[in-house]
Amino acid sequence: MKKIYKAKVEKIEQVSKTSYFIEIKADEFVNVEAGQFVSIYCEGLTLRRPFSVCSNDNGKIGVLFKERGKGTKYIKSLQVGDLIDVAGPFGNTFDIQNKKALLVGAGIGAAPISYLKSKLNEKGIENFFISGFLNKEEVPQGMQIDMVCTDDGSYGEKGSVINYLGVLINDYQPEIIYACGPHIVLKLIAQLGEQYGIETQVAMEKVMACGIGVCRGCVIDIKKDGKVVNATVCKDGPVFKGSEIVW
Ligand SMILES: Cc1cc2nc3c(=O)[nH]c(=O)nc-3n(C[C@H](O)[C@H](O)[C@H](O)COP(=O)(O)OP(=O)(O)OC[C@H]3O[C@@H](n4cnc5c(N)ncnc54)[C@H](O)[C@@H]3O)c2cc1C
Ligand code: FES
Repeated sequence: MKKIYKAKVEKIEQVSKTSYFIEIKADEFVNVEAGQFVSIYCEGLTLRRPFSVCSNDNGKIGVLFKERGKGTKYIKSLQVGDLIDVAGPFGNTFDIQNKKALLVGAGIGAAPISYLKSKLNEKGIENFFISGFLNKEEVPQGMQIDMVCTDDGSYGEKGSVINYLGVLINDYQPEIIYACGPHIVLKLIAQLGEQYGIETQVAMEKVMACGIGVCRGCVIDIKKDGKVVNATVCKDGPVFKGSEIVW
């Protein structure tokens, strides 16, 4: 099925010292779910760049991105009204359950979690969103976060989200944890989930080439039926149960 669309840039703005929010519209994106990603063609570059969807207003999808290299520099240069080439949506979704949820974001990983929060709110599912950033300047404006941590303590609580998870689990008593962020943070969250007997769902990130499950460039090991097997982050994921990943 063809999944490449021309999408119109509806909004683009800087939301922190290093991150930007872009809103693009294509009718085909109406049903994009939390956890899924889109791949943006960046002029002059062969490989599309993948980004999680962080909001969806009836087909107007939002992407929160951090400037890293040529691709994100190109996206940053776009103007309202530009038509861009976007493929997707790709990947699976968070498996939303009617369970009291602890949502954990770290860095740009806050993006898909923010979209998940809005979905849980729509369904009336109780949730608490904690997200960590390097410092105050990195905290994106306009994101609904219940508790912000910064490594240097310049905004919210001081330290990593990891420092607060044990206390939050004990006080808030979540029945499920959803998370996105650096590999090490997700690994620790999966371990905490095992320790407390709480299901965890983590959105993984890997550098991607094809983005559709063909090149096998984004493979990770997971446990299935007592065996270790390969899974692609782009097609089988990006969301996996923390307990099924071979960390
Ligand atoms: C499923 C998925 C969802 C993602 N969602 C987001 C998102 O919501 N917001 C966002 O800002 N970024 C997200 N990323 C990362 C994003 O794809 C990269 O930042 C982007 O491709 C960089 O492109 P570039 O041309 O600017 O940088 P490049 O020139 O390609 O790379 C510059 C540097 O960026 C880093 N980098 C590149 N690709 C990745 C990657 N996949 N993961 C981690 N670091 C990378 C490397 O350190 C590299 O040296 C996601 C990646 C995946 C796989
Ligand atoms: S990026 Fe090609 S299989 Fe995932």
